[in-house]
Amino acid sequence: MAQHAYSRRLPSGRVIHTTRPRDMRYAHIVGWGMEAPSQVLTNADLEAIVDTNDEWIMARTGIKERRIAEQRETTTSLATRAAQNALDIADILPSDLDLIIVATATPEYIFPSTASMVQDYLGAKKAGAFDLSAACSGFVYGLQMAAGQIQTGVINTALVIGAETLSRVLDWSDRGTCILFGDGAGAAVLQGSDKPGGVLSSVLRSDGSGWDMLTLPTVSSRDTYLQDGEHEMHRIYMDGKGVYRFATRIIGDSIKQALQQIGLEPADLSLVIPHQANQRIMDYVSKTLKIAPEKVYSNVANYGNTSAASIPLALAEAVEAGRVRPGDLIAMVGFGGGLTWAATIIEWSALPTRSTLSVNWGRRQGEYALAGVRRPLKRWWRRLMLLSPTTWIVTARRILTRRRLRKAQNEPGQDQ
Ligand code: UT7
Repeated sequence: MAQHAYSRRLPSGRVIHTTRPRDMRYAHIVGWGMEAPSQVLTNADLEAIVDTNDEWIMARTGIKERRIAEQRETTTSLATRAAQNALDIADILPSDLDLIIVATATPEYIFPSTASMVQDYLGAKKAGAFDLSAACSGFVYGLQMAAGQIQTGVINTALVIGAETLSRVLDWSDRGTCILFGDGAGAAVLQGSDKPGGVLSSVLRSDGSGWDMLTLPTVSSRDTYLQDGEHEMHRIYMDGKGVYRFATRIIGDSIKQALQQIGLEPADLSLVIPHQANQRIMDYVSKTLKIAPEKVYSNVANYGNTSAASIPLALAEAVEAGRVRPGDLIAMVGFGGGLTWAATIIEWSALPTRSTLSVNWGRRQGEYALAGVRRPLKRWWRRLMLLSPTTWIVTARRILTRRRLRKAQNEPGQDQ
């Protein structure tokens, strides 16, 4: 694509300078949604599980309570509910979606992807779907992947979800981790437009030399085949202090780098939505960027650290609370396992309006219902089609043999 210089004066007087392909479109966030399990685990509840107390947790993390998924709730079900809420706000149909990305560290299966299952539950017939593994940075990574596809005209509408059920992979005897994490999901719908704005710049980074600072071992990990594998399978391990140092080092700098790409400064930001890991880490954002603490959104007190879900969950709450308005420049920054980190700058364009009474609302419910009917029918059809002639003959013989045996058993004198 031919490049052209792009510069635009913002209402604040600042000018954005960048270059982009001539036919490039803009990727706007047009829908947002969240889903949090109703079960609450307070710091007082934790006192009965591990040697900890409310004062320590509040002082060191700022967390008061977190949500814990009930048995019937899964990463997929939380992701699907968050997605439906985001589709309501965007007022579009599941069948309008071209791509679904789910950022998660706690998928139900390594494959199929959670995204494919969400695609099926929503009835998003023409969407591609995949999971993205970048731990707590996953949502910002996913946002940039989707925005890139939209900006270059490959697709028009994408759904990016961050969803976790971390309570299922916590070591409930490790007070260094089990007090931190919670379950939940958040989602954003992105759509292409010729109107300037939306996702303006992003910084995606990784330092794999720190891979062992935050791990969740699964099949084929060295912890499985090494006799002296240090960490338990399917349990989170974290070098808390190491990750803390890393997080405070990159959290402000990565936002500055993303701002520099478009010639802006921290003072131009209306709101920063950081990964909700620890209030003390988030306090570094205002210190490093020299912005007012009120400009850094935090809901860590209510949900704890929900990994990939924390940023979209905070975004949905911030927009609904009127903290984000059209024309605002907002930054999101994620960091975590990998090590990975990612920052993005967004020029907000959508109003917080819920359109549940629209014509599309009814059509959405129809598509969800149809997906529920189609699922078992497709499965049965697939099973029938997969049976080869030999399998048909073997199955028929088996049925006949079983019938003959039953008949013989019922004939008089058989029990003598
Ligand atoms: O989402 C991925 C990114 N993750 C993060 O960003 C997490 C980053 N790390 C952190 O947030 C912090 O390091 C923690 C909250 C995990 C820990 O806070 P800290 O201030 O680094 O505490 P510490 O590990 O240095 O422990 C200080 C003391 C220790 O006792 P001693 O050795 O000084 O006697 C710990 O044993 O606090 C003790 N301690 C606790 N006490 C009560 C550790 N955990 C607890 C606890 N309750 N839950």
